[in-house]
Amino acid sequence: MYTGLVHAHSGLRWLALVLLLAAVFVSISRWQGNKPFTDGNRKLYLFTLISVHLQLVLGLILYFISPKVNFDALANRVIRFYTVEHITIMLLAIALITVGYSRGKRATSDVQKHRLVGIFYALGLALILAGIPWAFRGLGAGN
Ligand code: HEM
Repeated sequence: MYTGLVHAHSGLRWLALVLLLAAVFVSISRWQGNKPFTDGNRKLYLFTLISVHLQLVLGLILYFISPKVNFDALANRVIRFYTVEHITIMLLAIALITVGYSRGKRATSDVQKHRLVGIFYALGLALILAGIPWAFRGLGAGN
C-alpha cells in the first residue's frame, strides 16, 4: 500500500500542475481582458482545487506511514525535508488555493472572481513548484 500511495502522490503532481498552470493562465487573462465568468471557468477552478485536495489527502496518509517522516532524525536533510519543509510549504500552498477558490466563489463581479483565483492560485503554484522534491534536489524522491 505504501509504494502504491507514493506512486499515486508522485504521479498526481502532474495533474495538479497542469490544472494549476491552466487555471492561472485562464484566470489572469480573463481578469485582464475583463471577460465573463463561464461554467467552463468554474469547472476548471474547481477541478484544480480538487486535485490539490487529493494530494493533501494522499500526503497526510503518507505522513503517518512514510519512513521519511521521523522527528527523531531531523539532522538528516532528506528526513527534515519531508518531516518539516514539504508539509509546511504544501499546506500553505493548498490553503492559499482554497482561499482563492472560496473568495472567488463569493465575489460578486466576474472580473473579481477571475482576479482572486488568478492571484491566489499563482501564489499556490509558486509554492508548490518550490516544495516539490525534484530529482535535481537530491532528496531521494523516485521521480
Ligand atoms: C500539491 C501538493 C503536493 C505535491 C505536488 C506533492 C508532491 C510530492 C512528490 C513529487 C513527492 C515525491 C514522491 C516520490 O518519492 O516519487 C512527495 C513525497 C511526499 N509527500 Fe507530497 N506533495 C504535495 C503535498 C503534500 C502534503 C500536503 C503532504 C503532507 C500532509 C505531503 C507528504 C508527503 C510525504 C510524507 C512524502 C514522502 C513519501 C515517501 O517517499 O515516503 N505531500 N510529494
